[in-house]
Parts: sequence; structure tokens; C-alpha cells
Amino acid sequence: MDITEHKGLGTQIVASQSKSKPVFPAKVSQQSDVNPMLKNLTKTLMREHLEKFTSFHTRYYKSDYGRQSSEWLLKTVQDTIKDAGADEHGVSAKHFTHSWGQNSIIATIPGQSNSTVVIGAHQDSINLWFPSMLAAPGADDDGSGTVTILEAFRVLLQSKDIVKGKAPNTIEFHWYSAEEGGLLGSQAIFSDYAQTKRDIKAMLQQDMTGFVQKTTDAGKPESVGVIMDFVDPSLTAFIKKVIEEYCQIPWVETKCGYACSDHASASKAGYPSAFVIESEFKDSDDHIHGTEDLIKYLSFDRKYPPFFCYSPHASAHLLTQKCRHVAAC
Ligand code: BES
Ligand code: ZN
Repeated sequence: MDITEHKGLGTQIVASQSKSKPVFPAKVSQQSDVNPMLKNLTKTLMREHLEKFTSFHTRYYKSDYGRQSSEWLLKTVQDTIKDAGADEHGVSAKHFTHSWGQNSIIATIPGQSNSTVVIGAHQDSINLWFPSMLAAPGADDDGSGTVTILEAFRVLLQSKDIVKGKAPNTIEFHWYSAEEGGLLGSQAIFSDYAQTKRDIKAMLQQDMTGFVQKTTDAGKPESVGVIMDFVDPSLTAFIKKVIEEYCQIPWVETKCGYACSDHASASKAGYPSAFVIESEFKDSDDHIHGTEDLIKYLSFDRKYPPFFCYSPHASAHLLTQKCRHVAAC
């Protein structure tokens, strides 16, 4: 992790951890709220969004293309809010601005308290050979996570209760800039949150959700990779239960071995985070960070529940947890 921009991040841990630690539910119990939402998930919309998102030459955070892709994403999130009529109830989305050109995006669904759960993905892509020149479609890394959480957001806004602020927690969706530059966007955001003493109950990161070929070619069953390092063990244990309840494929524990995505910024600021990926780490997509990170390598037909489904499931479930399950709320 490049900590040069936010040297204070580690030292704020004490401040944000001084509150009592959130306790996550021992059992999955929101099926009656979550199951109707799941029926509304559409892979066609995810594909359409991913086609547009990968059509930018690159989403490199220092490039003008990266700025343009961020503008498109913000407008798409705002249109999603308007289409649901949720703007009339205080749901909003705005840029979190950065010095480098491409801004992060934060969408907020106010709830009954200021305690907040965060769902994240990174919007930028990179071509590691020549970032400012060469194409970086970034379909899997992390176009897949971007459209996954966008679909979860869209479906969540179909719940009248949630739109009208009846969720126990405030819900935020984050699309980080400059993850590929060293988690810069997420460090800026969580550093700001720690400084302003924001109460973040949980953060779930989704970075690379669409590639399955290496797993199936090896004759192994499809599974959800649950990252075990730089995460909160209790939140991660809860996410495993969510997968067991809502997915037709099992979870498998895996590790990056380093602070590989934006969950690490949340952890570093003292907030509980979890991270789910497409497979075991060693079977993940090798096309990333180059011109070949393309939609054609991704599976839109993962075993039922379909394509990326586990991620919106996990998101929706995490978000709708009732207050009584969570200590200190
Ligand atoms: N999406 C990757 C991390 C990843 C790789 C997750 C494989 C799951 C499977 C992320 O965008 C990335 O490239 N991270 C960097 C480190 C970051 C701090 C710049 C990396 O892995 O080198
Ligand atoms: Zn990457």
C-alpha cells in the first residue's frame, strides 16, 4: 500500500476503534426481505454497463479517459437513483474529489442512524506496461465489481422501505478511483472518515467477480473466494454464512498475501472489512492489467444463481441487517 498520501491513516486507528466493535449476526435471518430483491437482479443490465465501461480506452486514474469514465459512472448512478424515484427521499450520489483527475463516487441511502455500511469496488483500470498510452479495458479488474455493486444498488432501491430511510444503518456505495495507483482513492476516503469519526460498521469490497475458466479447466467446482488476510475475521465469518444461504456454489478461503485492494484501506483505518473474489486467488484472471482484460473471458452464466449473483446477495443481505443484530447501534 502506498501510504505517502495518507500518513495519518494508521495513527487514526485508535480513534475509530475506540467505539465498541460491531458484532455481526450469528445467523442469516433476513431472507424475507432479501429473497424478493434477488428476483430483480438482471445480468443483461450488468453486461450493458460493462460493455460501455470497457469501451473507454483506459480508466487510468491520471488520464482524461479516466476522468470521462468517472463522469459516465456518476451519471449512471444518478440516473439509477432517479429511475427509482429515490432522489425524492434523500438518496444521492456525488464525487469525492481527488487531485489527480479521476474522482471517486459515493452514493448514500440515508437510514435510521448515521452508522454506515459500505459496499465498494474500484472504477479505475491500468495497463501496467504503459499506463498513459496503452488500452486498459479492465473488464474483470474491476469493471466486474463496478457493475456488480451497481446492480445491487439498483435492486436495493426497489425496496420502498430502504428508499424511505427505514434501513437501520445508512448505506453507502463507493466506486474508488486510483486503486491501481496504490489504493489512493479509498485511502483518501477512509482517512477522511476516520478523521471525522464516522461510524463505519462494515465494508465489503468486490474486486474481480467474473472469471471462472481456470477453476473449471482444472476440474474444480466454481466457488466464491473469501479473502482471509487484511480483513475482519468476524465480518468475514458472517459473509461466509451469507454465501451458504444464498449461493448455489460454496465458498473457499483464499489470500492475496498483501494489501491487494481497497478493503485494506478500510481495515487500516480501523473499520471491519471483508473481500470476496471470483475464485481462489491462484485461479483468478491472468489477463488483468493489460489489453486482454476483456468481457469475452468472463462468465455470464455461472451456476445458478447466475453471474456475479453472490456479490449482490452478500451486499443486499449485509445492508438490510436489522439493528437488533448489531451491537452498539
Ligand atoms: N484486482 C487486483 C487485486 C486482485 C488480484 C484481486 C487478483 C483478486 C485477484 C487489484 O486491482 C490490484 O491490481 N492490486 C494491486 C495492488 C495495489 C495496491 C496497486 C496488485 O495486486 O498488484
Ligand atoms: Zn488491478
